[in-house]
Amino acid sequence: MIRLELNTLDDTKTLGLCLSEIVSPGDIILLSGDLGAGKTTLTRFLAQGLGIDEREVTSPTFNIIHEYLHGEIPLIHTDLYRLGEKADILDTGMEEYLDGDYLLVVEWADFLSEPLSDDYLEIHLTIEDSMRIAKMDFKGQSWIKRVKGMENCLEKTGRVIG
Ligand SMILES: Nc1ncnc2c1ncn2[C@@H]1O[C@H](COP(=O)(O)OP(=O)(O)O)[C@@H](O)[C@H]1O
Ligand SMILES: [Mg+2]
Repeated sequence: MIRLELNTLDDTKTLGLCLSEIVSPGDIILLSGDLGAGKTTLTRFLAQGLGIDEREVTSPTFNIIHEYLHGEIPLIHTDLYRLGEKADILDTGMEEYLDGDYLLVVEWADFLSEPLSDDYLEIHLTIEDSMRIAKMDFKGQSWIKRVKGMENCLEKTGRVIG
């Protein structure tokens, strides 16, 4: 688990760019946290790190799935909010992106009735006493191996971890 303060947009940008350095095709990143916590913003900076114009990246709340296929890794950005709690994966249209070719970023992933995989990075974003906090949980062998890489990237920029 890595805990990080994201007090400015620049901090969120750092996190997004560091994420872009450690992701590979087939990865799943689950984003949770209230409306306005910064899930779409973080995805935008991750996309930027992959060479996608971040201004193109908008909230997929209404379309549920947005595809950005021209970056270093094809990015699929989904938002399950509109499906409500206990969303069935078959209703999301996400299964076709689970074949290992895509990076899948899921907002409101906690709405899924069943886990997508046992290998994923979960990032929980909260605003506590007007401070933004990101808590990153690395699940599964492939993600656990990347904790150090993430810490190194964040430390290079002087972010406070812990
Ligand atoms: N670290 C941050 N510092 C300041 N403002 C932020 C930060 N992260 C996000 N925001 C702002 O919060 C608002 C909501 O963010 P958004 O990413 O749409 O949240 P979510 O997708 O979780 O609903 C946006 O106006 C965004 O610019
Ligand atoms: Mg959003």
